[in-house]
Amino acid sequence: MLILGIESSCDETAAAVIDGEGVVRADVVQSQIALHGPYGGVVPELAARDHVRNITPVVEEALRGAGVEASAIDAIAVTVQPGLAGALLVGAQFARTLAWSLGRPLVGVDHLVGHLLAVYLRRGDAPPVELSFPYLGLLVSGGHTALYRVDGPLASQIHELGATRDDAAGEAFDKAAKLLGLGYPGGPVIDRRAAHGDPRAHEIPLPMLEGSEFSFSGLKTWLARHVEQRGRPGSEQAMDDLCASFQRAVVEVLARKLIRAARAEGLSRLVLCGGVAANRGLRARTAELAARHGFSLHVPPPVSCTDNGAMIAYAGLQRVLAGQSDDLSVTTSTRTSLPRVTRKGRGSR
Ligand code: KG4
Ligand code: ZN
Repeated sequence: MLILGIESSCDETAAAVIDGEGVVRADVVQSQIALHGPYGGVVPELAARDHVRNITPVVEEALRGAGVEASAIDAIAVTVQPGLAGALLVGAQFARTLAWSLGRPLVGVDHLVGHLLAVYLRRGDAPPVELSFPYLGLLVSGGHTALYRVDGPLASQIHELGATRDDAAGEAFDKAAKLLGLGYPGGPVIDRRAAHGDPRAHEIPLPMLEGSEFSFSGLKTWLARHVEQRGRPGSEQAMDDLCASFQRAVVEVLARKLIRAARAEGLSRLVLCGGVAANRGLRARTAELAARHGFSLHVPPPVSCTDNGAMIAYAGLQRVLAGQSDDLSVTTSTRTSLPRVTRKGRGSR
């Protein structure tokens, strides 16, 4: 069985081919970082146009990398939600056309389900991942930050326990970096600088330690005020210290809430996913707390954490194995299909 996965929900045009065991045969990601960098964030209209430009070559490269013709593909999985409306349409329309011309099933995938299952992808000659359901997933990306109870690989088996009321964790990193003049995206550069800084240099109040919801917009306000009063750090060391302190605040909240939610749900298997799961501070701190509580922690390699087509193919494979597929009228949505506990901007329902 070979599944082609297509992803175009935000600022990466991606396509991958995986087999029925979750082994990644090819994985191509065309990032738009350079395109959006000057604006300090993703510009939806530019994203959609760039997907149109890139989708054909990216899919062709994935097929070439896997060494197969399109006709060898058994099913086509594509991200249909959530994401930017125009961006999603590009991948969905491409996948629909391809499925129609090849006469193969089309499976729409929720991007968040892709992130939550990315831990199962097998890259290189990695053995099968020993992780059974249920597990607790912390999804931390540029657009989403939430805790999920994952009872199985289908969207209907995944339940949000709480999400951010305002900014996502990645968004907090990106906005902080913008304030500090460090460029876009902010996560990787703050991560690099934090490694050389003192996380205790600044005592930043940890936001919303109670409950399973998150709020990161206060951190941005703290930083904005700090920069307003003192200006941007004048030396490399001072910048590294500020980055380390900021990262510590984000990481502490995420790590402590992950552990607390696991205890509340009675789950002992923890999974990190989404772009921010590439953060070395978060990986280290969650590993430390998990070990202290006797929990197992699974963190995919960074290429599986950030947006990619392989995780979409894997989530699609699970739907195929469950006998599910969509017809060619499949629609896209800017919202996730997973029921939400937290409404952005409105707190808990
Ligand atoms: O999952 P992803 O690739 O795209 C979304 O679905 O949003 O996540 C991108 C986000 C960006 O906000 C980026 O700053 C953040 O992940 N990120 C990181 C790191 N690498 C990427 N944040 C913190 N530390 C990192 N090493
Ligand atoms: Zn994502």
